[in-house]
Amino acid sequence: ARQIRSRLLELQNKATRYMHELLLSHPDAEHARAYLKGRGYGKEMAEKWEVGWMPGNPRMFLNWAKDAGFSGRELCGTGMASQKDEGNPRAGLYVRFRDRLMFPIKNDYGDIIGFSGRQLVEDKKSGKYVNSPETALFKKSRVFFGLDKARRAIGREKFALITEGQIDVIACHEAGLENTIGTMGTATTPDHARMLKRYTESVVACFDSDSAGHKAIAKIFSECAALGLEVRVATLPEGQDPDSLIKSQGVEAFRALLDKASGFFDYQIDHAILTSDLSQPVKKANLARDLAVYLKKVAEPVTRDSLMAHCATRLGLGLPEFRETLNRTK
Ligand code: UTP
Ligand code: MN
Ligand code: MN
Ligand code: MN
Ligand code: MN
Repeated sequence: ARQIRSRLLELQNKATRYMHELLLSHPDAEHARAYLKGRGYGKEMAEKWEVGWMPGNPRMFLNWAKDAGFSGRELCGTGMASQKDEGNPRAGLYVRFRDRLMFPIKNDYGDIIGFSGRQLVEDKKSGKYVNSPETALFKKSRVFFGLDKARRAIGREKFALITEGQIDVIACHEAGLENTIGTMGTATTPDHARMLKRYTESVVACFDSDSAGHKAIAKIFSECAALGLEVRVATLPEGQDPDSLIKSQGVEAFRALLDKASGFFDYQIDHAILTSDLSQPVKKANLARDLAVYLKKVAEPVTRDSLMAHCATRLGLGLPEFRETLNRTK
């Protein structure tokens, strides 16, 4: 199994180099270069993040792989290709990524374990991003985009800045926030929290300002609180993500929002104030119950107690009443 693993890593390494060269110089990749430029990125960014271009014609990639000495089985092992028909090996290979901007995804040691490919020409029939499937190398529940480049800065800054997308991570690094990593849109798992715990005690979540981002914040809090990690939340204007904010309002505006990051419980309370009428007792009771659920996830008892007192104060509830809500919460 070890030998297979090293072959798969070698294939993904060489494929990354191949796709990167295509992006930089192939005549058919002109639109991919224009796309990057249109988003405000140049050759330097493409080199640093080893961004590539996967051709629209799958034969090009398959021919390259064959010439480079990789077998169909190895291609399938990386998930870059799959058998068109499991029962019939002669049916040929289906290439997963087509005409996409390719971002290699690395583990914390810098091995390329998978890819995320962004659509260049809008086509509703397939996703905006297509990622590697689960393979021997790629386990979605354990991936943070950019962790290999961010780990030292996370240690230095004493917190990890967590965003949703790979472009967000890249935008933040370019803006000098090198402690940024990305969840790649997937829900945070206990494995993610354990990985974070190896590098820091504290995270700042800066997710897309939409309902998916709001849900993702609750999830990352739940997993992190269980391990005693502190979670703060930086809120962006409605509909924005870190990349779009930096591009439209500049790095300083983004940094100012990060400096104003609030504790997770204040974020929840502020969000509730904006989205519901807390002068109605029912609404306030609902919020108290929601907060109680989150408080229960805080593993450390002294922290939990002071957060509880803080929430009660902000809600204008007596501590005994709020404690009772908590006791009734499963
Ligand atoms: P977003 O939809 O917020 O994309 O999804 P984005 O990062 O802002 O991408 P741009 O700016 O339009 O290029 C957040 C993340 O969720 C994953 C990707 O990792 C993406 O970066 N995602 C999103 C997918 O895996 N598939 C999709 O179809 C969409
Ligand atoms: Mn989003
Ligand atoms: Mn986004
Ligand atoms: Mn975006
Ligand atoms: Mn809510």
